[in-house]
Amino acid sequence: MKKKTFFITTPIYYVNDVPHIGHAYTTIAADVVARYKRLAGYDVFFLTGTDEHGQKVQQAAEKSNREPQTHVDELHVRFKELWVRFNISNNDFIRTTEERHQKVVREILQKLYDEGEIYQKNYEGWYCMPDERFWTEKDLKDGNCPECGRKVEKIHESNYFFKMGQHRDWLVDHINQNENFIQPKSRRNEILGFLKQPLDDLCISRPKERLPWGIPLPFDDQYVTYVWFDALINYISVHGHLEQIKDSGYWPAAHQLIGKDILTTHSVYWATMLKATGLPLPQNIFAHGWWTVNGQKMSKSVGNVVEPNHLIDQFGVDVIRYFLLREVPFGQDGDFSHKALIGRINSDLANNLGNLLNRTLNMLKKYFKGELPSPDVSGDEDSPLVAKSAEVIQEVDRLYGELAYSKILAKIWEFLDTGNIYINDTAPWNLAKTDDGKKRLATVLYNSAEACRVIAILIAPFMPETAAKMMEQLGIDTPVEQQGLDSIQKWGWIKSGTQTHQGPQIFPRIEDKVAEKILEEVTIGGEAPASKKKEDGDEDGLITIDDFMKVDLRTAKILEAEKIKKSKKLIKLKVDLGTEQRQVLAGIAEAYEPEQLVGRTVILVANLKPAKLMGLESQGMILAGSDGETIILGGFDGDLPPGVRVK
Ligand code: MSP
Repeated sequence: MKKKTFFITTPIYYVNDVPHIGHAYTTIAADVVARYKRLAGYDVFFLTGTDEHGQKVQQAAEKSNREPQTHVDELHVRFKELWVRFNISNNDFIRTTEERHQKVVREILQKLYDEGEIYQKNYEGWYCMPDERFWTEKDLKDGNCPECGRKVEKIHESNYFFKMGQHRDWLVDHINQNENFIQPKSRRNEILGFLKQPLDDLCISRPKERLPWGIPLPFDDQYVTYVWFDALINYISVHGHLEQIKDSGYWPAAHQLIGKDILTTHSVYWATMLKATGLPLPQNIFAHGWWTVNGQKMSKSVGNVVEPNHLIDQFGVDVIRYFLLREVPFGQDGDFSHKALIGRINSDLANNLGNLLNRTLNMLKKYFKGELPSPDVSGDEDSPLVAKSAEVIQEVDRLYGELAYSKILAKIWEFLDTGNIYINDTAPWNLAKTDDGKKRLATVLYNSAEACRVIAILIAPFMPETAAKMMEQLGIDTPVEQQGLDSIQKWGWIKSGTQTHQGPQIFPRIEDKVAEKILEEVTIGGEAPASKKKEDGDEDGLITIDDFMKVDLRTAKILEAEKIKKSKKLIKLKVDLGTEQRQVLAGIAEAYEPEQLVGRTVILVANLKPAKLMGLESQGMILAGSDGETIILGGFDGDLPPGVRVK
C-alpha cells in the first residue's frame, strides 16, 4: 500500500544572518514532527533552506568585494552545517539561487502575467530600504517603517503589482472556514483583524538599476522579482514545474512552521499567490513566538544573540533540542536563560529520565546478570503501568496534531513518573529476598525495561541521540526508526533473553558548583560573545567608526575594592568617573587582590546597561585582557584624570 505523504516546511533563512537559536527553534520543531510522522509510517518530506536574493545580500557581497553568488555559496553552508550538528533530518535544502527554484518562479510570474493577475503602474510611496518593503502613508508608525521602526524613503517608481487586493473576501472566508489554517488562535484573529482593512495589491518587482540581485521578471528584464514573492515559492518549486507540483503528492503542506514576524507574508501574500496560481493552500500555518534572552530582545547590537554551536558544545545537542521545545508552549514567546536550561537538565533529564533507565539496568545487572528475564507472575501494579503507556501514546499522538510540543513532553514525563512509581511500589529489592519474590521480580524488571523502551521511542523525535543510547543500553539492535510506533501499540515488544548493558549515565547532573561557574561566565561574558554582529546584519564582522563611538569608554579611578564572598571571580569596585561614582563588579578576583586595585585608573565601558550579578548591580564594565589563564587590566602608561573619554 502506498504510504500517506506528509510535507512540512520551515521558513528559508536569510543567508546573511548568522544562525541563532531563533532559527534553530523553528527547524528543530519541524524536525520533531517529521521524525514522529516517519515513526508513524508516513512518507515524510521535510524542507528547509536559505533565502539568497535581495538588497542586503547584494550590499554585503559588495562590501566584501565579491560576486553575490560567490557570497551566498559560501554563507549558506553555515545553516547546512548547523542542521547537521542538530541532527536535523530534512529531506532537501532549497536555495533560492538554484535554477530548479528560479524556473518555477519565472513560470508562475509568466502565468499570472498572462492571466492579467499582474499589471504595471507608477508608484509613489514610502520604502523601507532595510526591509525592502513598500508602505502607504497610513501604514507608517510615527513616520517610520511599521515593521522595524527605521526611516522610510519616498520613492517614485514604475513597478509591477500582483492583484492581491481582490482576494481579500475569499481569504477571510477561507480562514473562517478552516480553523486550523492559521494557528495559534490569537494569530488567526490578528490576521482576521488585519483583513478588515482593504487589502492593497502587492508590488512584486524592483527595478534592476536599483537592485540587480534577484530573479529577472520573465516579461520585463528591466526588473527583478521582489524577494518575498521569490522566496515563498520555494515551498512548491522544490516539487518541480507547476504541473509536477500537483502530482508530487507533497502539496499542500501539512504544516508550514514560521515565526510570528512573518505571518502576514505567509497567510496573506502566500495564500493569495497560491490561490491565483490555482494551487491549494497549506493545511496549516503555525506561527510560533519569539525567544528573548534573560528577558531582553535578542539583538546583534546588544550582543546577546544566543549562538547554537556554543550551546551544543557546552550541553550537547539533545539537551538543547529538549529545552527549546519543553520550556515554552509553541506559539508563545519564551525566554532563554542558562539558569532555566540547567534546571531542566537536572530535574527532567538527569533525575527523571536518567533515573528510570539506570535503576532498571542496575537491578537487571544485579539480579539477572543483565539478561532480560521472562515475565510470568503478573501483579496488581502492572496494569496501571501498561494502561498509562497506552493512554500516553494516544494522547501524544493527538497533541502532535496541535504541535503542542511542551504538552507532549509533559505527557511523556507523566509516563516516566509512572515508571518510577512502579519501581518504588513493587520494591524489587524486597522481591529479590525470597524465591517467590524472584519470580515476580522477573516480571517487574521486564516491565521496567519495556517502559524504558516505550519512552525511548516516544522521546526519539525530540532526542534522537538519547533514544539511540537508551536502545543500546537496553541491548536492542533494531533502530528506533524500524521499531516504529507500531512496536509500542502493544505492550511487550522487547524480547526476554536480551542482554542489556548498563552504560554511563545518559544525563549526568550538573553539580551546583559547575552550574554556578557556568552562570557566572555567561553573566560576565554575555550569553555568547562569538555571535556579536553588526547592527545592519553584515557578516564581515567589521564595524564603522560610528559603531565604535557608540561605546562610551572612560577613564575611571578605583576608589574601593572588595571581594564578593560567594564568588571566586568577582570583585566589587567603587570607581570615580569625575562627575559621579559607580559600583562595578569585575571578574578579576583570581588575578588581583583588592588592595592592588585601589588607586589605579582603568578603562570603563560607561554606557553599558546595568546588570545584576550575584544580586548586586554592576553599573559598567572595566576592560581587561585574558589569554584564558592570566587576566591583566587595561590602563595607561601615564596619569589621566577620571572621566576622560578613551577612543
Ligand atoms: N527569509 C525570511 C523567510 C522567508 S520564508 C519564505 C526570513 N528569514 S529570517 O532568517 O529572518 O527568519 C526566519 C525565521 O527565524 C523567523 O520567522 C523565525 O521563524 C525565526 N526567528 C528569528 N529570530 C527569532 C527569535 N528571536 N525567536 C524565535 N524565532 C525567531 O524572515
